[in-house]
Amino acid sequence: MSQNQPHFYRGRFAVAPMLDWTTRHCRYFHRQFSRHALLYTEMVTTQAIIHAKYDHLDFDTAENPVALQLGGSDPEQLQHCAQLAQQRGYQEINLNVGCPSDRVQNGMFGACLMANAELVAECVQQMQSAVHIPVTVKTRIGIDDFDSYDFLCDFVQKVHQAGCQEFIVHARKAWLSGLSPKQNREIPPLNYERVYQLKQDFPHLLISINGGIKTTEEMQQHLKYVDGVMVGREAYQNPALLGHIDHTLFDANAPIITPRQAVENMFPYIEQQLSQGVYLNHIVRHMLGAFQHCKGARQWRRYLSENAYKAGAGIDVVETALGFVEE
Ligand SMILES: Cc1cc2nc3c(=O)[nH]c(=O)nc-3n(C[C@H](O)[C@H](O)[C@H](O)COP(=O)(O)O)c2cc1C
Repeated sequence: MSQNQPHFYRGRFAVAPMLDWTTRHCRYFHRQFSRHALLYTEMVTTQAIIHAKYDHLDFDTAENPVALQLGGSDPEQLQHCAQLAQQRGYQEINLNVGCPSDRVQNGMFGACLMANAELVAECVQQMQSAVHIPVTVKTRIGIDDFDSYDFLCDFVQKVHQAGCQEFIVHARKAWLSGLSPKQNREIPPLNYERVYQLKQDFPHLLISINGGIKTTEEMQQHLKYVDGVMVGREAYQNPALLGHIDHTLFDANAPIITPRQAVENMFPYIEQQLSQGVYLNHIVRHMLGAFQHCKGARQWRRYLSENAYKAGAGIDVVETALGFVEE
C-alpha cells in the first residue's frame, strides 16, 4: 500500500477484463465471494454498442462495483458510450490499450494505441469531460521495440494530462505481430519493477499492477509498491481465491467465503435466469473451477459439463454436482 493513498481504494483488488470469460453471469458468481473486488466486463467495442443487435451494456447492478471496458479509438463514439454506461450504473469506464489481437489492431484500438498517446489522451479527455465516474486506462509496459521506461512514462504523462488518474499496467510488453494474444500473455517476460518505478515517479496517480499474480501473499507484496492488483486467469480458474480477498486486503473482520457458500448463494439468481430462458450452461461454465483444491472437484466439473448444456437442465443439476464435493 502506498502511503499517500486511502486504504480502501476502489481498485485495490480487481478481476481483469477477459473476453468470453467475465460475462455478467461470471461476475455475478465472483461477486458472491467478495463485496469489495472491482469487477471488469469483457471488452465491449464502441461499434458493438452503437450498432447493437442486442443490449451489450445490460447487467445487474447487484454485480457492482463493475467497470465497463471499452474498445475503440474514436473520441466521440467513446464519449457517447461512456455516457450510456454511466446512465446504466457502471462505476468506471476503462479504455483497453493492452490487447494485441489482429482483430483489435485492424480496428485501431487495443495495445497498438500505445504508439499514439495523443489519440489516447484525446479519447480520455472526451470521455472524462462527459462523465463523473473515473475513466481509467489498462495498458502494457510497452509494444514492439517501444519498450523503454521513457516511452512508458511519456505515454502515462500525456494521458494523465488529459484527465486520467488511474492506470492498470500489465507488467509485460506486447508484440503486435508474430505472437497470438495467448502467447502475448505468456512469452514476454514480466517486469514488475517497472510498474513499481512508475508509481514512484508518478506518486499522485493510482497505479495497479497486473500479470501472473496468483496468491494473496503475492498481492500483499505488490501492494507495498503500488495501489492495486488486478488478477485475471487465476481468479477465473480458481475463484476460491476470491473468497479470501475481503478478509485479507480490505477488512480483517470480513468473513472468508467458501466456494460452497458462493455456489449456494447463486441458486436464486440461477432460478431467475432460467425462468428468463437463459441456459444453465451459460452460467455454470464459469463455476467449473470453484472446487479446484477439494475432493470431488473432478466429479463436480464432469457432472456439470455432461449435464448443464442439456435442454431443460435446471438447478437440480447443480445440486447433484455439489453432492460430489467435500470441502
Ligand atoms: C481469455 C482471456 C481474455 C482476455 N480478454 C481481455 C479483454 O477483453 N481486455 C483486456 O484488456 N484484457 C484481456 N485479457 C488480458 C487480461 O485482462 C490480463 O491482462 C492478462 O490475462 C494478464 O493477467 P493474469 O496473468 O492475471 O491473467 C484477457 C485474458 C484472457 C485469459
